[in-house]
Amino acid sequence: MGLISALEGRSSKHAFVSIIVVLIIGFFLAVLFIYWSTPERDDYVPYLRRGHAHHSHDMLELAGPEQDVGTHDHVNENTSIAEKLYSEVRILCWIMTSPANHQKKARHVKRTWGKRCNKLIFMSSAKDEELDAVALPIGEGLDNLWGKTKEAFEYIYEHHMNDADWFLKADDDTYMIVENLRYMLYPYNPNTPVYFGCKFKPYVKQGYMSGGAGYVLSREAVRRFVVEAIPNPKLCKKENTGREDVEIGKCLENVKVLAGDSRDTNGRGRFFAFVPEDHLIVHVDKEYWYWKYIYYKTDEASFFKFKL
Ligand SMILES: *[C@@H]1O[C@H](CO)[C@@H](O)[C@H](O)[C@H]1NC(C)=O
Repeated sequence: MGLISALEGRSSKHAFVSIIVVLIIGFFLAVLFIYWSTPERDDYVPYLRRGHAHHSHDMLELAGPEQDVGTHDHVNENTSIAEKLYSEVRILCWIMTSPANHQKKARHVKRTWGKRCNKLIFMSSAKDEELDAVALPIGEGLDNLWGKTKEAFEYIYEHHMNDADWFLKADDDTYMIVENLRYMLYPYNPNTPVYFGCKFKPYVKQGYMSGGAGYVLSREAVRRFVVEAIPNPKLCKKENTGREDVEIGKCLENVKVLAGDSRDTNGRGRFFAFVPEDHLIVHVDKEYWYWKYIYYKTDEASFFKFKL
């Protein structure tokens, strides 16, 4: 039965049901049409089939453009608050990178959001003139991420403690809006033992911050981590292996650094673990680990929660 005949039918209940059925069928046809007819989406098909559009492993071989893509000005933008906060909320950003990613990823951090930090440091295992990267005395690979994180904060404690109030760790595929980060941190005193990020629930009693989303430690949190936690194997894992974000979460809890709440006054998150598409739109089925990990209940991406 078509829409028109449904409308002309005598039973309004019958017509209503027919319209709903037609709308549902139409909706699914449209979804199928969009899904199969948009060529760029082909890249995403394997990830969608897993019920999720992006996984860090899928990003390993990706790279930004070779050439300098240039810059543009926001002519009528009122930057007075951002400029004031630049000197009042000083942020040192350190970027976890590796030699294979210097050209592919890290240089793009330096050319974009990284330069808005008060101080930008690339932590790698090899020097790099363009990046001015620090060569930490440690091997690369997943097995050394935790070791590298400890080395990086020790290096910062030794050389840069007075250059900033807050110390952000981010990956070379993280994007931060540094002005908004300053705005978020402004009410807090950097002498408070606290850190912020995308808070996950398991493994650590007070929760821990996702590594991929980036996390930011107060100066006091860095001091406690480096001076009190790292040297004590009872407080902090001595070996270099393990999940960097979980391990630092345990160390910080052990030296009473609070896992802060980074949501805004409306309860919306301000640190995110995935690419924007995943949080804004789609395809995250209810069984996906994210829903079990996320500390604060969220409605994001809840509209299309069917499994593909
Ligand atoms: C820019 O914003 C500040 C703070 O909101 C305000 O005091 C100032 O008047 C604004 N300046 C202009 C040119 O709009």
